Amino acid sequence: MILADVRIGLGYDRHRLEEGRKLVIGGVDIPHHKGLRGHSDGDLLCHVIMDALLGAADLGEIGLLFPDTNPEYKDADSLKLLEDVGGRLKANGCKVVNIDCVIIAQEPKLSSYYDEMKRKVSSALEILPRQVRLKAKTGENLGWVGSGEGMEAFCTALVEVSGG
Ligand code: CDP
Ligand code: ZN
Repeated sequence: MILADVRIGLGYDRHRLEEGRKLVIGGVDIPHHKGLRGHSDGDLLCHVIMDALLGAADLGEIGLLFPDTNPEYKDADSLKLLEDVGGRLKANGCKVVNIDCVIIAQEPKLSSYYDEMKRKVSSALEILPRQVRLKAKTGENLGWVGSGEGMEAFCTALVEVSGG
């Protein structure tokens, strides 16, 4: 078997949950009494996907590309930033093979939103929904995730590179 020139990337993120803030995950507005705090919209799923893709493509990390000291990114729509990252990958000859994510959140239940998140994320990256795989875990009531203080997420991404 000839293995294509592929690279793996890993993204990790965590955000605090705050009363009265909108909860946006994977570009989807989810009804909940708390939302993720952040300079941007706090969309940790988009954040881990960007970091995983940037890692695989060797293009840095979101903190460098979209610094939270820059007022331009205040309350930024993370899906738009994801679109920007997708463009950078293409410009560098990188094609997304697949993305696999885990979100750890005590509540709310996220599985019913997977399809909508996949549609939003894949459309921002101009890939197919089935190239985006999503999973969620509760915090089993343990620690800061289990008490609902925040959420965390991980993502791996596989990217095919043309021309080395
Ligand atoms: O059973 P196990 O301890 O591995 O997982 P869990 O944390 O109890 O979550 C069970 C299932 O609930 C997950 O596989 C997800 O499908 C779903 N889940 C969800 O939809 N939203 C969450 N915030 C957490 C879990
Ligand atoms: Zn983040």
